[in-house]
Amino acid sequence: MEVFTSISNLRKYLVQQVQQQQKIGLVPTMGALHEGHISLIQASKADNDVTVCSIFVNPTQFNNPEDLLKYPRTLEADCAMLEAAGCDVVFAPSAEEMYPEQPILKFNFGALETVMESASRPGHFNGVGIVVSKLFHIVKPHRAYFGQKDLQQVAVVSRMVADLSFDLELVIAPTVREADGLAMSSRNRRLNEEERHIAPHIFRIMESAKNALLKGESVSEVIKEAKQEFSAVDAFRLDYFEIVDLSDLQPIDIIGSKGNNAICVAVFLGPVRLIDNLVF
Ligand code: PAF
Repeated sequence: MEVFTSISNLRKYLVQQVQQQQKIGLVPTMGALHEGHISLIQASKADNDVTVCSIFVNPTQFNNPEDLLKYPRTLEADCAMLEAAGCDVVFAPSAEEMYPEQPILKFNFGALETVMESASRPGHFNGVGIVVSKLFHIVKPHRAYFGQKDLQQVAVVSRMVADLSFDLELVIAPTVREADGLAMSSRNRRLNEEERHIAPHIFRIMESAKNALLKGESVSEVIKEAKQEFSAVDAFRLDYFEIVDLSDLQPIDIIGSKGNNAICVAVFLGPVRLIDNLVF
């Protein structure tokens, strides 16, 4: 496995690969890898000749300095996991390498960023847009892999790819869950034992909301019940519980056809903010 920290060295290597007709897959990550990331690596390996995993804790997408500071950084363990998974290239640049100057470009994703994550994390999707477009320009992948767990990120990146005519295919992989339903996330490792025990309630509450909706209960009633369930657990502090149209992420009053609805949650469990969603 090749490990690059410099943009120019990575570019030189990838130009050679493309000259040899190799297809490039990119899995952008912020490290602290888990099985969810490895499923993206496997998907890329199945579709491409060379899989590049970027590991970069992107400062421009954090609006909370403490969150940025506390974000787990585990480069050595990440590289060991990637090597075992058969990843070909790791790109782990420093902040100075990625941002020799503070970018002045600003992305505005319109209505896609007036909902859910945007309210609690102002500027977050601007930072995601900047770093993902930089990674696309640096790596020039044929395909790029993202997890459905970050549903709003997927919507924003899909729109950016369309609006800016990036010449690549986006591949969205399903959320990987622990046996008890908790969505895999780099943040899970910050949960203490008690919080880890409580965390699977998030999936359970979403599942029971989905079942109630499918049985014909109204959206407003289901939201009310779900909020009550979260408030019944002291350790939870709910940020949002939304039922949205998958196409534009806007809240809905009545559920649409199969596969076009999503339940989206963000909740603090102790100091850790977790997000999850169910598409149905
Ligand atoms: O999902 C993430 O880990 C990050 O938002 C991403 C896409 C790597 C950009 O920093």
